[in-house]
Amino acid sequence: MKFSVTRQSIGEIGEHSLVVFIRQHQKSIKLSPFGEEVDKACDKLLSGLIRRKQLDASLEHIDVIFEPYGMKCKQLMVVGLGDPEKLDKTKIRKLLSFIVSNLARREIDDVALSLSDFVQGSAGDQVQTQAHFAQLLVESAYSSRYRYTETKGKTDKKKKKSAPEKFKLLIEKDADKGSVQRHVVIGQAIGEGTNLTKSLANLPGNVCTPTYLAKAAREIGKKYSMTTTVLDEAKMKKLGMGALLSVSKGSREPAKLITMEYIGGKKGQAPVVLVGKGLTFDAGGISIKPAAAMDEMKYDMCGGASVLGVMRALGELKLPINVVGVVASSENLPDGAANKPGDVVTSMKGITIEILNTDAEGRLILCDALTYVKKFKPAVVIDIATLTGACVVALGQHASGLFSNDDGLADAILAAGESVGDRAWRLPVWDEYQQQLKSNFADVANIGGRFAGAVTAACFLKRFAEDYKWAHLDIAGTAWKSGTHKGATGRPVGLLIQYLLDTLES
Ligand code: BES
Ligand code: MN
Ligand code: ZN
Repeated sequence: MKFSVTRQSIGEIGEHSLVVFIRQHQKSIKLSPFGEEVDKACDKLLSGLIRRKQLDASLEHIDVIFEPYGMKCKQLMVVGLGDPEKLDKTKIRKLLSFIVSNLARREIDDVALSLSDFVQGSAGDQVQTQAHFAQLLVESAYSSRYRYTETKGKTDKKKKKSAPEKFKLLIEKDADKGSVQRHVVIGQAIGEGTNLTKSLANLPGNVCTPTYLAKAAREIGKKYSMTTTVLDEAKMKKLGMGALLSVSKGSREPAKLITMEYIGGKKGQAPVVLVGKGLTFDAGGISIKPAAAMDEMKYDMCGGASVLGVMRALGELKLPINVVGVVASSENLPDGAANKPGDVVTSMKGITIEILNTDAEGRLILCDALTYVKKFKPAVVIDIATLTGACVVALGQHASGLFSNDDGLADAILAAGESVGDRAWRLPVWDEYQQQLKSNFADVANIGGRFAGAVTAACFLKRFAEDYKWAHLDIAGTAWKSGTHKGATGRPVGLLIQYLLDTLES
C-alpha cells in the first residue's frame, strides 16, 4: 500500500475515486469548504443533489456518483458523517474501516481523500488535526488489508484485495505537511507491526513453536540491525531458571528465551524492557484443560508476538530510545516428564514455588524472565501476557488488565491506550492479596484460589519485579476474538508503540 500526501488542488485529482464527506446539521446537509470546491468544479452537482434530497448524510452512508461532470476522477464517493458533534474516535475508526473495505469491494485501487474535509467534522476529540486523522486512516487501511493465508489453499490466496493499493491524502494549503507525513509513517509502522503480530499469533501450534518464534525474531533483528540472542534450555539451566524450564519439561519442543536489543537512543540510556509470554500451545499440562475451544490456546503466545510486532515497528520508526524485547517461549503439555500438581521448583530469583495447578504456567515462565531482565538495568519493564481467564471474566474483550507497582507508569500506559483506541483498565496488586498465594511447602504457591484470579496472578509476578518500575498487561480478553471471526487482534501493539512515542515527549 502506498500513501502520498499532497496539498489539495481539485484540478489535479486524477485518482479513480475521490471521497467527499457530508455532514448532517439538524435537518440540513452541509458541505465542508473542500466539498464546496468540489461542488464548484462539477458545476454544482453536489448542492443540486442535496437540494433534491438525493444524498444521505447519515453516518456510514455512501452515495456514489459515476463520471462526475468536470472532474478527472471516475467517481465521487459521498460519505455521510452524520451529526459531527456525535463523532468520537471509535466511530471514526469504524467509519474508516468501513470506507476502506467498501472501496476494496468495488475493486478500487487508487483513491484520494481530503483530510481537511474530514477533520472539520470531528468536534471535541483529539482527531482534530489532519495528521492524527492521517494516522487513523493508515492504521484502518492496514487492519482491513490483513488476511490470514499462511496455511490456506491457493484459491484463498488469490481472493480479492481487501484494501486499495494507493491512497492520496489531500491536505489544506497551510497544513504542516511534514507532520502529516510523519503520522503516515507512524500509522504504517503500527499497521505493519500489528499485522505481523496477527500473522504469528494465528499460525497453528504445530507451525509456530518456540523455535519458530526465535527464527522470526532473528529475521526481524537482522533486517533492522538489532542484536538478537536466543537462550536454549542448557543456558537457561545454567542461569537457574527452574520455573521456566519446569513448564517445558513435558514438551518435545525445546523452550527458548529470546532477546532483541534495539538501540536508538544514547548508549547506556536505560531501556524500556518488554517481556512477552510466548506459550505456543497451552494444553494446561497435567491439569489439562477441557477439550472445548482448546485450539484457541495456540494464542497463548500473543504477548510474545506483540513484543515482536513492536520491535519491528521500532525498526521502521527508528525512534531515539533504547528498547529490549524479550519473549519467553515454551509449550505446556501433559507428559510423563511434565510438572505434577504439588511439585516444588526453584526460580532464578531463588524463590521456591509450589505448582498447585500446572495450567498456571504463564507466571512460571514469566517470573524467570522478569528476574533475567534485571541485567538490562531497565527504566521500566512491561510484561504482556494472555495470563488468566479471570481477566476475561473481569473486563471482557474491550480492555486489557493493567497492573503496576508504579502510578506514573500505569497512568502513561492507560493514556497511551486511550489515545490509540487500545484501552487498558487498572486493577490492584495490594499486599492483602499475597495471602492467597501462601504455600505450606514452598515460598509461594502458583495459584491463589477462586477469588480475584487476575489479581493474584499479577501479585505473583510482582514478587519478581521488585527491583524496577513494572507493569503487567493481561491480554487474555483482548488478544484474539473467538467465534466465526476467530483471529488475533494484534493488540496491544498500538498501545505499546504509542507508549514508546509518548516517552519521547516527556
Ligand atoms: N493461558 C491461560 C489463560 C487464558 C485462559 C487465556 C483462557 C485466555 C483464555 C493460562 O495459562 C491459564 O491457563 N490460566 C489459568 C490459571 C488458573 C489455573 C489459576 C486460568 O485462567 O484458568
Ligand atoms: Mn495455562
Ligand atoms: Zn497459558
